[in-house]
Amino acid sequence: MINTKSDFINDQSISEILTNYSKPEAAQVKDVLTKAREMKGLSLEDVAVLTGANDPSQIQELFDTANDIKDTIYGKRLVMFAPLYITNLCANECTYCAFRAKNKAIVRKALNQEEVKRETEALIKQGHKRVLLVAGESYPKQGFQYVLDSVRAVYEASYNNDNIRRVNVNVAPLTLEEFKLLKNEKIGTYQIFQETYHRETYKKVHIGGKKMDYDWRVTAPHRAMEAGIDDVGIGVLFGLYDYRYELLALMQHIQELERVYGVGPHTISVPRMEPATGSDMASQPPFPVSDLDFKKIVAILRLAVPYTGIIMSTRESEQMRRDTFALGVSQISAGSRTNPGGYEEEDEISGQFSLGDHRPMDEVIRDVAQMGYVPSFCTGCYRLGRTGQDFMDMAKPGAIKAHCGPNALSSFMEYLNNYASPETFKIGTELIEKTISGLEGVPADRARKLVDRVNNGHSDVYC
Ligand code: 5AD
Repeated sequence: MINTKSDFINDQSISEILTNYSKPEAAQVKDVLTKAREMKGLSLEDVAVLTGANDPSQIQELFDTANDIKDTIYGKRLVMFAPLYITNLCANECTYCAFRAKNKAIVRKALNQEEVKRETEALIKQGHKRVLLVAGESYPKQGFQYVLDSVRAVYEASYNNDNIRRVNVNVAPLTLEEFKLLKNEKIGTYQIFQETYHRETYKKVHIGGKKMDYDWRVTAPHRAMEAGIDDVGIGVLFGLYDYRYELLALMQHIQELERVYGVGPHTISVPRMEPATGSDMASQPPFPVSDLDFKKIVAILRLAVPYTGIIMSTRESEQMRRDTFALGVSQISAGSRTNPGGYEEEDEISGQFSLGDHRPMDEVIRDVAQMGYVPSFCTGCYRLGRTGQDFMDMAKPGAIKAHCGPNALSSFMEYLNNYASPETFKIGTELIEKTISGLEGVPADRARKLVDRVNNGHSDVYC
């Protein structure tokens, strides 16, 4: 029986742990940071302790620990993706979102399959290989088939013999049967954010539509996994409620998935509330998260679930995004639009919220490379079936580095050859050379071979 109840999010236990642990002594914080360095993850109590690390030297130590863990497990690579909004129609009333049903202040559109293809082509032309397909909760007359058709359209689109190699999907909770159909379309990650785990707040901000059902939403990852989609992404919309509570609840959600399916989420997203057309709340979040607390959130997550990817979107400013790379972020979007059709045409259709980083993809890539991070377009694991438990089994002993490192470099080389501006090409190729010369043994040989193959005209090479 699949769990349909949300009792694994236990309000009372979260409150007790916060009361007992979130005002720690300095020695407690030190102990948790020492434990975190073992890279086996943290308990709810440990996470509560870290939320109470407020002294500048403690915060610095937290950030340094996060940076070391990120470096050990992920090296210098950053996976790149772009969201693709296929429709802004929505039947829900989420008070913070521009897409909410009764919002008359925005222009609506659902892309047809031709338009989805054209949007995808625009993304391929920028050099993207991974797309996150996003939709509001209301589909044109085909119903859920619309989502399936759209995933297919993204995979079918091509430009210069190139195509999107992994489609992740962020749509409203599905039934088990629907998840099976989605799995058949060969999606990568199914992603869904609970927004807030705090039931009372959830009720206050979701005032119409199916999204009002907290339990149906919080158990969506269960159904996805049950349907065989073993990479799921979860997240919290920060600003709705106390971030300390949300972090502990997120941990309970993770532990539940680990308990039932043997593996936790593949990724965690940390969207922070941004202004949105027609939403007063979005400009005045009830629990605003400061920049410092936001960085703490990323660092704490990196320590708490070292092998889970952390995604940073373009909601955040250039500088904030840069700062979080060293704190544990492993995936970033670039050149994003949140309005359906926004890549191909400019903006008469409305977006979901306002963005903090407006730079085009090439500029983001250049900046990332200049900082010494290797933009990765790799989709190897998913295509070799290294997902869910298989991925984690490989990741945990650190073996993933022997694959991810070389694959990042070869996929970056391919990007540079096909899509980069001359300036980015120069900076990127220098970084590739420097990175390979810093490698030894198997990863070094593999990286050299793969990059050479790309430079000899092969595409899509990985190990
Ligand atoms: N600011 C930032 N993120 C938002 N989302 C919805 N509205 C906003 C906003 N005003 C997030 C929600 C949703 C995801 C796709 O976008 O978390 O799940």
